[in-house]
Amino acid sequence: MAAPIIDAEYMNEIEKARRDLRALISSKNCAPIVLRLAWHDAGTYDGKTRTGGPNGSIRNKEELEHAANKGLNIAIELLEPVKKKHPKITYADFFQLAGVVAVEVTGGPTIDFVPGRKDSTDSPLEGRLPDAKQGVQHLKEVFYRMGLSDKDIVALSGGHTLGRARRERSGFDGAWTNDPLKFDNSYFRELLKGETPGLLQLPTDKALLEDPKFRYYVELYAKDEDAFFRDYAESHKKLSELGFSPR
Ligand code: HEM
Repeated sequence: MAAPIIDAEYMNEIEKARRDLRALISSKNCAPIVLRLAWHDAGTYDGKTRTGGPNGSIRNKEELEHAANKGLNIAIELLEPVKKKHPKITYADFFQLAGVVAVEVTGGPTIDFVPGRKDSTDSPLEGRLPDAKQGVQHLKEVFYRMGLSDKDIVALSGGHTLGRARRERSGFDGAWTNDPLKFDNSYFRELLKGETPGLLQLPTDKALLEDPKFRYYVELYAKDEDAFFRDYAESHKKLSELGFSPR
């Protein structure tokens, strides 16, 4: 599909959609699942073949049925009334805008958003998103394939400051932090404390303590929330623009 034309009218729609999204996401307390939707649309990117990425393809039935995307139909359905009000905006832009707003309204950093993503109806084969049961090597393989770095892996894993896992979706259960609707650096502080009854740590979360390069950033972000916010905003922008060159 063609790239949208980014003129004053498109920018105006983006600003209106941004306001509608702020209201919707705050009132429904759905920031976590919306952030996960944006990440799962983008996180299929493969730098070699330049396929996947933030292109709205997650709304295709076939991709939505991938095991990793269980439950994300709820996020798409919640967002649909706002999308309908702004038909000019591509799904690809809309989902990434929603991800940026989800971080903002829960108290996280402001993430620069540049529109212009094309929609695609082609879905990647299943298996490009990370498997929570694996470790350091797997995380590196998956994120390097996207073109992201060790620092990006740790900063973005901080997205688990929001939300929780549900047994019926992923097989895991529980939240990573005591306030899963507040975007802060508590994910890293909890990770360094070790297992706490009632809180979740996935094998891929714990892997961030094992690799010395990963661990350096975990320790930095646990003691310096400003550093986390700065790096998170940068890494999230990169994730949201994989395979996309703003004009
Ligand atoms: C939830 C795995 C990275 C944001 C989850 C869940 C799993 C998971 C298993 C639970 C899903 C459920 O049961 O509904 C992973 C793995 C990652 C990763 C293996 C590799 C590093 C990320 C990144 C972000 C993110 C990069 C965003 C920047 C979230 C959020 C939730 C979540 C916000 C909560 C969703 C909700 O409450 O509905 N993740 N994730 N994750 N993930 Fe990740």
